[in-house]
Amino acid sequence: MSNTKELDTLLQSLPSWVETSIPHASSGKVASYIPELSKAPQDALGITILAPDGQSVSAGDCSQVFTMQSISKVFTLILALMDNGEDEVFKRVGMEPTGDNFNSMLKLELVRPGIPFNPFINAGAITVTSLIHGKNMEEKSQRILNLFHSLTGKDNLAYDIDVFNSELESGDLNRSIAYFLKGNQVLIGDVDEVLDIYFRHCSILVQCADLARMGLILALDGEDPLTGTRLLPKRYVQIAKTFMTTCGMYNASGEFAIDVGLPAKSGVSGGILSLVPGRYGIGVIGPSLNDKGNSQAGVHLLEMVSKQMNWSMF
Ligand code: DON
Repeated sequence: MSNTKELDTLLQSLPSWVETSIPHASSGKVASYIPELSKAPQDALGITILAPDGQSVSAGDCSQVFTMQSISKVFTLILALMDNGEDEVFKRVGMEPTGDNFNSMLKLELVRPGIPFNPFINAGAITVTSLIHGKNMEEKSQRILNLFHSLTGKDNLAYDIDVFNSELESGDLNRSIAYFLKGNQVLIGDVDEVLDIYFRHCSILVQCADLARMGLILALDGEDPLTGTRLLPKRYVQIAKTFMTTCGMYNASGEFAIDVGLPAKSGVSGGILSLVPGRYGIGVIGPSLNDKGNSQAGVHLLEMVSKQMNWSMF
């Protein structure tokens, strides 16, 4: 189907697909382990799909503003690769899914050489954050924020300071992971500084349209079709998309790859960034999470859209 025809279909059908998916939110739960996140509306569901010519279709609560949480890990990985190269990064972080919860430390001790299994579990993402270059904490955070400015075409993205502080106060599990990694010489640097940068990039505020734009740039291997510029190296985007496919939906990544068939990365705020390779970027928000930590209604919606549109990464 041509883009124009597809966008027409989406324009007509997306609102009803959102309506059909909303009831699924009631069987999930808004994340509360970061207390500030629990204030998000349980039944919200929104989506934006963006095409390379700049046309987009949105439906539902797409104007919701939410923190990126783990979705940011896709881009800190790319920045760490740009700063250090593949050899340095993959000396400290592996390439395999875990089958465990995203904040598990289990395999760090069980499986040699004791490096995090992949860059999207918390242990891996904290290690990746420690590899971002900059002369101090402020400069490192600013470089991450600048990357998001170029990817979203905005110059005023903000941190949700309440979510940041909430995670700083309640982040003992992440703190213990970071100290464990430091004790094993996997994480180099000051734990508090690395966690400050990590919590900060998790707390960057976005909307579905921002995720869709970032997803579109990944879909096009790092080129921004809206400005005609290359923003990210193709090789590193391909690495990131591969991790999105194998580990992007935590320990439900295999099921998602089969049911939805698209690369994606979710966050505990209920956001999902997905893409149709070469064609579309997709941003979803639905704060109610399933037991794997993915948006309950959001996953349902993406499965519906992908099946109805006959989309697949293969
Ligand atoms: O570190 C945390 O727990 C959150 N800032 C991010 C968690 C999240 O979205 C799931 N991670 N894979």
